[in-house]
Amino acid sequence: MSYSKSNITKRKFDVVIVGAGGSGMRASLQLARAGLNVAVLSKVFPTRSHTVAAQGGIGASLGNMSEDNWHFHFYDTVKGSDWLGDQDAIEFMCREAPKVVYDLEHMGMPFDRNPDGTIYQRPFGGHTANYGEKPVQRACAAADRTGHAMLHTLYQQNVKAKTSFFVEWMALDLVRDAEGDVVGVTALEMETGDMHILQAKTVLLATGGAGRIFAASTNAFINTGDGLGMAARAGVPLQDMEFWQFHPTGVAGAGVLLTEGCRGEGAILVNSNGERFMERYAPTLKDLAPRDFVSRCMDQEIKEGRGCGPNKDYVLLKLDHLGAETVHKRLPSVYEIGVNFANVDVTKEPIPVVPTIHYQMGGIPTNVNGQVVVQANGVHNQVVNGLYAVGECSCVSVHGANRLGTNSLLDLLVFGRAAGNHIVEFNNKAKNHKDLPADAADQSLERLNRLDNASTGEYAQDVANDIRAAMQLHAGVFRKQATLDEGVAKIAALRERVQNIALKDQSKVFNTARIEALEVDNLIECAQATIVSAAARHESRGAHTVDDYADSAEFPNGRNDKEWHKHTLWHASTNSLTYKPVNMTPLTVESVPLKVRTF
Ligand code: FUM
Repeated sequence: MSYSKSNITKRKFDVVIVGAGGSGMRASLQLARAGLNVAVLSKVFPTRSHTVAAQGGIGASLGNMSEDNWHFHFYDTVKGSDWLGDQDAIEFMCREAPKVVYDLEHMGMPFDRNPDGTIYQRPFGGHTANYGEKPVQRACAAADRTGHAMLHTLYQQNVKAKTSFFVEWMALDLVRDAEGDVVGVTALEMETGDMHILQAKTVLLATGGAGRIFAASTNAFINTGDGLGMAARAGVPLQDMEFWQFHPTGVAGAGVLLTEGCRGEGAILVNSNGERFMERYAPTLKDLAPRDFVSRCMDQEIKEGRGCGPNKDYVLLKLDHLGAETVHKRLPSVYEIGVNFANVDVTKEPIPVVPTIHYQMGGIPTNVNGQVVVQANGVHNQVVNGLYAVGECSCVSVHGANRLGTNSLLDLLVFGRAAGNHIVEFNNKAKNHKDLPADAADQSLERLNRLDNASTGEYAQDVANDIRAAMQLHAGVFRKQATLDEGVAKIAALRERVQNIALKDQSKVFNTARIEALEVDNLIECAQATIVSAAARHESRGAHTVDDYADSAEFPNGRNDKEWHKHTLWHASTNSLTYKPVNMTPLTVESVPLKVRTF
């Protein structure tokens, strides 16, 4: 195929949203209800977006099971983040949480119920009452299919509100004008291969994370960091990309998620001696300590020879003592996953698990309204007009160095709604669309024609697999400075190979191959942002644990607040880093001061 300016179609909307997962559809709902002309682009049918895979619940201090309030939730989230989360944004999220959950309930979300009719809530990692004193049940659950139920609820409401969905469309690049304002996106219609420019007063990126930069991941194949790649190519830095969450219970060998809700319902982790080893590491929270901590403990057990199986390379998650009735009622997907991916009936025997890449804490920097912010003229947090980001592709930053389970679905709802409301205001003020610049399509045309015109080169999937293997090896659960440094060089070399990807033998090329090749442009931005940011951070904090920066009297847990209590910003054009301060000032309450994390 040959792409040129003459065969590009132009269309105009008030707002273009890229991504139809939980955050994109929560935002589009606000916009469509306000009567704006909204286009939502999605590589897949909306209800197949990755939110569908979220299992355990939505964190909100409803207090349905025992006393809870947003102050406890706020404290847990700050501590969970290893103090890298911004406390203004964390307060905003925790205060809004009950409201967005009740909104969803009123939309028809089929939550599990208590006998008195209130929403059922289960325990989850790092959720406590009274500032860490004892576990609390805060995760609002629809069995172990909470994301599925939420996504279907939001989709139905969007259909009712007449949101326009562009299904199987891939956004390519942001269009910025001479003043740096975002005035639209370019996109590819996957069925036809046609390129379009969608002009808009506002663009909202809601493309999810980039979990597919790793070889073993709980993420869907679509999670290739498309919004992050678009932002990076448009000159927007990526924040805190060194922080990637390993979920403790991925099915060994398959990578499929087994919800933390298993442990919330009473499942335990055991080593080859049959010992419930988390009791040793976290006497108060035990198996429900935060994920970074539990993952490291599992890794430690394996390293010290107490792993299970012929290669002693996994531990076991034991659910059989919960009883078949509880498993089938509360954890029906876990039962199915056990049978289908491990040939294990979890009601009868334990299932092999390993920590598996699950969630990206960093992303496109935003404020609490979802507006993308950058440093301009030496001043941090200046808004990029016309550009918003929400959900896993964004970094507001509420998760800091380690996210608490269930705060992801909450983040989608709170900031999707907040961004929607803010965009309505922005659009009402911006009466007219800004003009498209003459070079609106150039970046995308160059990318498309680079692939199509090359008769020799590499297959996209060979390069993508090498990126994944390198990231898995060099940026795993336990990192080493030397390995990270080697990873920086490897990923730089892989970036050269990305330039050499070609769609060979055009007569046999489907558009899916073109899409996969375009996705690699996004994978490489996310991989390089991650490895460069990680190699530069000379401490251990949250999910970023480096052997060289171990626990010591001077640096408990390896954390060095004096030098590293700051956010990282990676700039694609120069492959370099700058830093900005963490916001320690909440909106209305007292700051949670820096402390050593123990459980
Ligand atoms: O374990 C889980 O169900 C995952 C939840 C989350 O990532 O928040």
